[in-house]
Amino acid sequence: MKNSELNQRRQAATPRGVGVMCDFYAERAENSTLWDVEGREFIDFAAGIAVLNTGHRHPKIVAAVREQLDRFTHTAYQVVPYGSYVTLSERINALAPIDGDAKTAFFTTGAEAVENAVKIARAYTRRPGVIAFNAAFHGRTLLTMTLTGKVAPYSTGFGPFPGSIFHALYPNEQDGITVEQALESVERLMRTDIAADQVAAILLEPVQGEGGFHIAPPAFIHGLRKLCNEHGILLIADEVQTGFARTGKLFAMEHYAEQADLITMAKSLGGGFPISGVVGRAEVMDAPAPGGLGGTYAGNPLAVAAALAVLDVIEEEHLCQRARRLGNALVDTLEQIKGRCPARVAIRAQGSMVAAEFNDPSTGKPSAEIARQCQKSALDAGLLLLTCGVHGNVIRFLYPLTIPDEQFNQALNILTRVLTR
Ligand SMILES: Cc1ncc(COP(=O)(O)O)c(C=O)c1O
Repeated sequence: MKNSELNQRRQAATPRGVGVMCDFYAERAENSTLWDVEGREFIDFAAGIAVLNTGHRHPKIVAAVREQLDRFTHTAYQVVPYGSYVTLSERINALAPIDGDAKTAFFTTGAEAVENAVKIARAYTRRPGVIAFNAAFHGRTLLTMTLTGKVAPYSTGFGPFPGSIFHALYPNEQDGITVEQALESVERLMRTDIAADQVAAILLEPVQGEGGFHIAPPAFIHGLRKLCNEHGILLIADEVQTGFARTGKLFAMEHYAEQADLITMAKSLGGGFPISGVVGRAEVMDAPAPGGLGGTYAGNPLAVAAALAVLDVIEEEHLCQRARRLGNALVDTLEQIKGRCPARVAIRAQGSMVAAEFNDPSTGKPSAEIARQCQKSALDAGLLLLTCGVHGNVIRFLYPLTIPDEQFNQALNILTRVLTR
């Protein structure tokens, strides 16, 4: 089957709303390499949008899923439970940066995890309000697109939107938004839009993913935690993109002195199988009544088996350390070449959550065009990259943390050529 033929059929058979980045079709993939249906080979620095920290088809994960496939594939956990779900909860409870007793519930997608975290927070506090942040991304469902702090394309034409959702400023060096201004914007909302005692939760990504890899400064988390404590508000960390070793820790919240009350997770938890979850303080997690949480496929046994193997692989292959080492090497390369790049480049990194932001050298304004050109040239040279950022002017690097050194260096060489052209 040719890519061109599949493209024609895709356009006739699938809606344009399901936007597609590449004009080629996947045939197979192994660790950090992906082949298309015409036999072209790519180094995969997209990793299914941060899903494959453990690479494509890690042998341990494939073996675990295969073993589960031969026993049962679905019972609906809420009808006939299985021990592996309980084991995975126990492991996440022990690993998550939440002191005291914790509990975990599993779902299927990242958006579902965020929706459920909001449900849990509302049930616990008996309040409706949620404060999220500009440039945040939390998903495409009705509630999560409303929590998302970017309009086009996520909520264009999809209103009316759920109520009691508010957006504050997220600290952003490039836009000159300081921690003080961001915290003040939260307090202003509590004066002008919703009383603090009506706010159930403040929801943030410790590193904004789709928003451009902006990293929450420790003082910001400290200030939010303080506000939450003062007003009986829960702090929810959306770790759907930051989780599972990407930032050099299993959870990005481990970089901070303060803790969240609830953490959402998805993506790399399942190593390519759809699973998400919410971990939180036990008394908070127990607020919804029996039957209030769950879903037909929530915590599917194949995905749970994959997730248990993912946790083993992260530990056995020291992927947190590796994330830090690879991230440092990538940042070194970007720092070396940024003076030779025809754009003004800002680099942001926490572990292997690395991004390069491109701004016009004469105006300093965001340049989506330069980012797009770099992405295209890299793709032509066999390196698959993703963009992000409210202005689309950021390239993010999300390689599998299991990528062989030689292939990683090959990718750095391609990047050097592309960015200095
Ligand atoms: C931080 C964050 N939250 C939520 C989501 C939504 O996850 P999903 O696409 O699995 O619904 C994403 C997806 O990119 C994300 O990055």
